[in-house]
Amino acid sequence: MGMREQLEQLQQKRAASEQGGGPERVATQHQKGKMTARERLDVLLDQGSFVELDRFVTHRATDFGLAEEKYLGDGVVTGWGRIDGRLVYVFSQDFTVFGGSLSEPHAEKICKVMDLAVRNGAPIIGLNDSGGARIQEGVASLGGYADIFLRNTLASGVVPQISAILGPCAGGAVYSPAITDFVFMVRGLSYMFVTGPNVVKTVTHEEVDFEHLGGADVHGATSGVAHFVHDSELECLAAIRTLLGFLPGNNVDPAPSVTATDPPDRREEALLDIVPDSPTKPYDMHDVIRRVVDQGEFFEVQRDYAGNLLVGFARLDGRSIGVVANQPAMLAGVLDIAASLKGARFIRFCDAFHVPLVTFEDVPGFLPGVAQEHGGIIKHGAKLLYAYCEATVPKLTVITRKAYGGAYDVMNSKHIRGDYNVAWPTAEIAVMGPKGAVEILYKGEATEAREAEYREKFAHPYEAAARGFLDDIIDPRDTRPRLIDALRTLETKRDRNPSRKHGNIPL
Ligand code: HXC
Repeated sequence: MGMREQLEQLQQKRAASEQGGGPERVATQHQKGKMTARERLDVLLDQGSFVELDRFVTHRATDFGLAEEKYLGDGVVTGWGRIDGRLVYVFSQDFTVFGGSLSEPHAEKICKVMDLAVRNGAPIIGLNDSGGARIQEGVASLGGYADIFLRNTLASGVVPQISAILGPCAGGAVYSPAITDFVFMVRGLSYMFVTGPNVVKTVTHEEVDFEHLGGADVHGATSGVAHFVHDSELECLAAIRTLLGFLPGNNVDPAPSVTATDPPDRREEALLDIVPDSPTKPYDMHDVIRRVVDQGEFFEVQRDYAGNLLVGFARLDGRSIGVVANQPAMLAGVLDIAASLKGARFIRFCDAFHVPLVTFEDVPGFLPGVAQEHGGIIKHGAKLLYAYCEATVPKLTVITRKAYGGAYDVMNSKHIRGDYNVAWPTAEIAVMGPKGAVEILYKGEATEAREAEYREKFAHPYEAAARGFLDDIIDPRDTRPRLIDALRTLETKRDRNPSRKHGNIPL
């Protein structure tokens, strides 16, 4: 065969590799309101930037009639591309080929792009749409999953790992995403469970449908497995692009900065009127965050989970920051198990990838009660404490109102290496609120006068500032310029934890 014929044959094979499981299955995928693996990559990546690898890979199985059923690419599309011009590695599972299930070669393809991502220091994005281990392959596919889990673990903290769940994902198809940094789901389309409703019924006799067992809202609001929940695939893929804009490609490069258009010296009058005069009245901490950060843009993570603690990305003078903030509008901003888990994981991500942490604090303490104690608030709260203590990125704190009890220590206090800790004049820094304090100190003889005495002693920031526990007490209007100036001084920050194999965070 001459070169031209050979080229024609190549073209045919390349075209065949783009057919997935065939037109009927593609039509079914579309009927379900789902895009195909390739269509998703087109939306996710900069136009024309995708470079595919391993399009000619096929499975090597022969049992259960598989020898006769082969599809080029074997159910996953892999390669690299660009997002806003920056390199990313991707894999996109093709549900039209054996339900996106994972064969040994399918796993090898994923492992190849994961290895490239780590070697070349770029994020890895997985678009998951898979029925788990390919049942016909048995242990070979289980081995494939384990190969991926190992790589997920070794890549953790080295390159950002992002998972979108874009179909029913069961078994191994959920454990790989669970090790990654951020999980995205789409309402009515994404499901994650270790085993589906049928098995659940047999084992626990519970009757539950897909949605209530492992739908997007379950994982966004109840289990906390998903960090982002969206109404459509398009919205979800766009959000992945936005998230990546805040992140460096790896743990060596600095987080990207954009040219800021919001003036760094912008004072904000409205900050004078957000904290209510009464210490028991709630307010929305989003209002504080939005008025301080660039253009009021706060990219919130786990918005529907543990709303008493807000976490997310923003920018100050064009530089990425991670925001952690108590939310007085929800449960008075108390720290409970869910909030501790949410905060700890986010802080560790930011620390791993050099994203400075800015904490806005208004917290009455840890949530008391039997349910919290029996649920392990001690060990879970300790995770948040541990995460803040071990973080060596620039760490800034603004106390807007309450900083009570252990929560004062935890929320990036000076004592645990806060770099720049300031309070607004409305801050109250004490072991507890004045009312509770005098009730304990004076038992049945708590009088209003004694409460007033305690309030005068501690319900302000000056006692803490007198000890240097606060670096300054600032005019709330100056919050943005002060944080930006402090962050600039911290660009050259050097801090290290003792050399060791690894710490032992209280899991
Ligand atoms: C091989 C699979 C498959 C699998 C689906 N298919 N899952 N083929 N291995 N695991 C195939 C189907 O045979 C079908 O092929 C096509 O994909 C579409 O599947 P449907 O069932 O028609 O689709 P749907 O009704 O949407 O249901 C999707 C599903 C269901 C919920 C994912 O297929 C399902 O429950 N699959 C099995 C899930 C599972 O138990 N996986 C193993 C997990 S154990 P045709 O030819 O008809 O198009 C595991 C081990 C790792 O993963 C553990 C690590 C910790």
